[in-house]
Amino acid sequence: MRKALFLASKNKDKIAELRSILESHRIALHSMLDFPEMQETLEDRDSIFGNAMKKAIEGAQYSGMRALADDTGLFVEALAGIPGVLSARYAGAGCSYKDNVRKLLSQMQGISNRKAYFETAVALADKSGIIGVVSGIVRGEIAESERGEGGFGYDSIFIVEGTHKTYAEMPDYQKNLISHRALAIEEILPLLLKNY
Ligand code: IMP
Repeated sequence: MRKALFLASKNKDKIAELRSILESHRIALHSMLDFPEMQETLEDRDSIFGNAMKKAIEGAQYSGMRALADDTGLFVEALAGIPGVLSARYAGAGCSYKDNVRKLLSQMQGISNRKAYFETAVALADKSGIIGVVSGIVRGEIAESERGEGGFGYDSIFIVEGTHKTYAEMPDYQKNLISHRALAIEEILPLLLKNY
């Protein structure tokens, strides 16, 4: 029998990515798209771990299934980890990806230490609480200007360590193989499959 897992997300790309990973493990993936009346969790915790755990717990309680949730941040060394947990709304409430990129490039003007990393926290929960939380990290540097057409968010200004390419200069399949999110999902898989 196929086991059920709930992904606390409406993002079609995230749902498709996880569905393809879980295909060979006989786990049927459900998401917020199957529960249109479910409200999105307010991401008000002070870390990506806190937000991922909050989303996973609310997802498990609402759906009655085991639930998985993620939260991602871009942490820039010279800015003391900013935008970090605030990555989605760095340039203000309702801002676009472009607004965030423009703001970060302007904050980084004249700064020679361009080191940064992406981190995705992934939490797994059931109705009684958190089962586990892990993360995936990809290190790199903030580019001087945008490069590449692919991806989303900060992809066009994040040069992946060891590649000389921004995420946006890679085809989707390549980014999805090495990304912070892929690493975090790989990390949670043993826990997800254990006793299930
Ligand atoms: P979320 O937790 O996946 O919603 O990510 C929060 C924010 O981080 C997004 O709104 C994006 O701005 C940024 N972000 C997350 N993942 C990526 C990525 O893979 N590339 C570039 N930006 C990302």
